[in-house]
Amino acid sequence: MNNISDTTWDKLAQSAAIAYNQAYAPYSNFKVGSAALTSTNTIVKGCNVENASYGLTVCSERNCIAQGVIQHEGNTALSFVAMVIYTEEEKLTPPCGACRQVIAEFFPATAQIRSVNHLNKHKSWQVNELLPDAFLPEDLLTKN
Ligand code: THU
Repeated sequence: MNNISDTTWDKLAQSAAIAYNQAYAPYSNFKVGSAALTSTNTIVKGCNVENASYGLTVCSERNCIAQGVIQHEGNTALSFVAMVIYTEEEKLTPPCGACRQVIAEFFPATAQIRSVNHLNKHKSWQVNELLPDAFLPEDLLTKN
């Protein structure tokens, strides 16, 4: 499932590199850009946005997902197909724990998340590999 063509991965990587250059990371100097493909074939971007009150920093991946939610104007069926995380680090950047939880909310368990760098190295993970046994919307169903 989820066979993403090389062309699509390239487009996502290019968008994520653009987002990387828009990152606001004056405290860590660790810029991160991301781009995701939505189920309606739209590419949305995100970058990390830091804050002088450090704990208020929001990661690139969560901002990217928020962009998808905004662009889908309240369509509750919104889903995402794949995401690329771009940094200019030799060691490829994986999503942090908080982002894994938010990714699990919006991406199918078998969707691919790929980390890419400026050296064209990449590594991909399946969502359920990033966060096995995730707490998901269906876990709340008994309360509805
Ligand atoms: N960061 C991300 O945006 N995504 C990740 O997956 C890892 C960490 C950001 C948060 C912070 O602005 C900076 O990188 C250093 O932690």
